[in-house]
Amino acid sequence: MGCRPHEARYNAIARFYDLLLYPLEKRRIEPLRKRYVPLAEGLVLDLAAGTGNNIKFYPPGSSVVLVDTSESMLDVARKKAHDSDNRLKIRFVNASLESLPFVSDFFDTIISIDVFCSVDNPEQGMREVKRVLKPGGTILFVEHMLTGKPRKDFILKILNILTVPTVGSSMTRKTGDVIRAAGLNVILDEEVGGSFRYIKCTKL
Ligand SMILES: C[S@@+](CC[C@H](N)C(=O)[O-])C[C@H]1O[C@@H](n2cnc3c(N)ncnc32)[C@H](O)[C@@H]1O
Repeated sequence: MGCRPHEARYNAIARFYDLLLYPLEKRRIEPLRKRYVPLAEGLVLDLAAGTGNNIKFYPPGSSVVLVDTSESMLDVARKKAHDSDNRLKIRFVNASLESLPFVSDFFDTIISIDVFCSVDNPEQGMREVKRVLKPGGTILFVEHMLTGKPRKDFILKILNILTVPTVGSSMTRKTGDVIRAAGLNVILDEEVGGSFRYIKCTKL
């Protein structure tokens, strides 16, 4: 079976992904993982988990399912899980978040870090995320998106010309709007550096 263009792209760059993103990871994203991933409770879904950069920040003994469409990205994550010392009960699932292979109302916490910039159908993805979250469960989004500030957004639109064809990541998504349109209950929404926002949601 053939794979979608973004799968082929992530499969091709998986081995170099951490190196390519290293400056952004260390300066911007890793401090956010450190702050938010330890908040995960119960059964956790790590959405579009990529090379598994959240793994080392889960509380010891956590039960975590990592889902991603790219088997090669997950292979890198498997190695990190093997080398990590936080004794996670971990499962790797090669699937698309627009069609998650889980029953409804299943996860206590969903972690979505740097995900919705590269999903083909964010609206369908968001519906699926909402479906598999338990009522009363929590979704922690750490996502970059358009800011509504003309100068910043101009720069993001220029950067987009580079990031879409290389790492398959759009700088111009309106993920906050997609979250609200899906009917998730936003309980916190704050700027956390650059064009990243931390958005904490529940499902009523
Ligand atoms: C920018 S990377 C971020 C990975 C990870 N969340 C992190 O914080 O490092 C985006 C990841 O999303 C995955 N992806 C893109 N579209 C997807 C989809 N529709 N379903 C599942 N995974 C997807 C890609 O394979 C890639 O691993």
